[in-house]
Amino acid sequence: MPKNALLKIDEMEVTLPVMTGSEGEKAVDARKLRQDTGYIFYDQGYGNTGSCESTITYLDGDNGILRHRGYPIEQLAEHSEFVETAYLIIHGELPTPEQRKNFGQLLRQHAHIETQMQKLFEGFPKEAPAMVMLSSLVGSLAAFYPQLATNNFERDLQQFDLAAAIAISKIRTLGALVYRHKHGLPFLHPKDVPFCDNFLHLMFSEPYQDYAAIPEVTRALNLILLMHADHEQNCSTSTTRMVGSSGANLFSSLSAAIGALSGPLHGGANVAVMQMLQSIHDEHDDGTRFIQAAKDGTKSHRLMGFGHAVYRNFDPRAKLVGKACDIVLTKLGKSDPLLAIAKNLEQAALKDDYFISRKLYPNVDFYSGIIFRALGIPTEMFTVMFAIGRSPGWIANWKEVASNSKGRIYRPRQLYVGPVKRDYVPMAKRG
Ligand code: CMC
Repeated sequence: MPKNALLKIDEMEVTLPVMTGSEGEKAVDARKLRQDTGYIFYDQGYGNTGSCESTITYLDGDNGILRHRGYPIEQLAEHSEFVETAYLIIHGELPTPEQRKNFGQLLRQHAHIETQMQKLFEGFPKEAPAMVMLSSLVGSLAAFYPQLATNNFERDLQQFDLAAAIAISKIRTLGALVYRHKHGLPFLHPKDVPFCDNFLHLMFSEPYQDYAAIPEVTRALNLILLMHADHEQNCSTSTTRMVGSSGANLFSSLSAAIGALSGPLHGGANVAVMQMLQSIHDEHDDGTRFIQAAKDGTKSHRLMGFGHAVYRNFDPRAKLVGKACDIVLTKLGKSDPLLAIAKNLEQAALKDDYFISRKLYPNVDFYSGIIFRALGIPTEMFTVMFAIGRSPGWIANWKEVASNSKGRIYRPRQLYVGPVKRDYVPMAKRG
């Protein structure tokens, strides 16, 4: 492996150190480039920029590989469950039985929302988008737990385990309460039951009739949350790190991440997939006409749930979620016309030169919406589900930033292309 890279700018030569990751990933260390030469690297959207070293998740998009702390996603999907994987992602190791028990207890202890905080809901119109409410409510945790959110890394890290458990548990509860608020349903108290069952209870129980847990539903929910638990330096995770790098507390950083996740090119894609499948269904198309329109190249007709900024191969999560989709629908005895359309689209696209040549494969969002629908979770809540699932990844990344004593504030450069210097024109002389 080379130790240095040589950059030549006209007659000027600069030697830049080469870095290697634990899986052989290669990087050129450009930290001193500007100081030594006056140049910056231009990389719009940071698509080819490593903003940090991280020990949390390894993703090889060309080969469809995803591992958390070294463990392949396929093995975690088969043997683990969301809470255990959350622990692994946050703390770096699979928990011992004792650690797993304590973590579970901490999550249960902090599942409730204090009365004072419940009052915040009264100020939100029922029509407010779910992710907008969730982002504000999660930000407000910093106000309700000021001792855990001091904007001082040393102090905040001393109580990190508690803050992390509060964040994961309450994002789940707040997500369910957002749904109840939007539908004018009374708020319920959490029960002393496992994480996913509690979510289903908080969403679907009625005041005098508890939601009856169905093991297949709980298992599917567990799997789908686990599938979203972390995904390297995506838009919302980088946002967490960016905000956290200023010294901001965990809850403020998570609130910003939820805002980043809400966009249709990121977490909002699962909603866009369902809208696409529904419109294909409403137009009595089996997918053939839509595929043709998608190939004609307009962004408004993109095959949503296909393609990925990083994967140039099957998203391994899409394979697992696709399989789970079949199992859940069969076990629940449900059939969904949208699943048939999704399968047609997938088969047609995987044989089509347009998609093959551009290496466009299904991503995690292609099938996740159909599972959520089968579980009775409405489309308006899909991105909230993504946020609940992604919370461990955001938290682990915040911790990595906060624990790095040599870290610096995230502060990219830009290429200024605006007007050059000009003199102020008094109002009377304008127009
Ligand atoms: N349908 C049809 N054509 C597509 C699609 C698609 N879904 N995605 C990319 N292309 C075409 C695109 O038109 C371009 O063609 P050409 O070379 O002829 O101009 C080529 O493929 C490369 O596209 P790109 O926009 O440069 O690809 P990208 O890596 O910048 O974009 C993406 C990645 C995810 C934004 C894009 O594939 C997309 O819009 N997909 C649909 C939305 C979606 O499912 N997003 C969820 C991503 S996974 C969840 C998450 O991580 O948050």
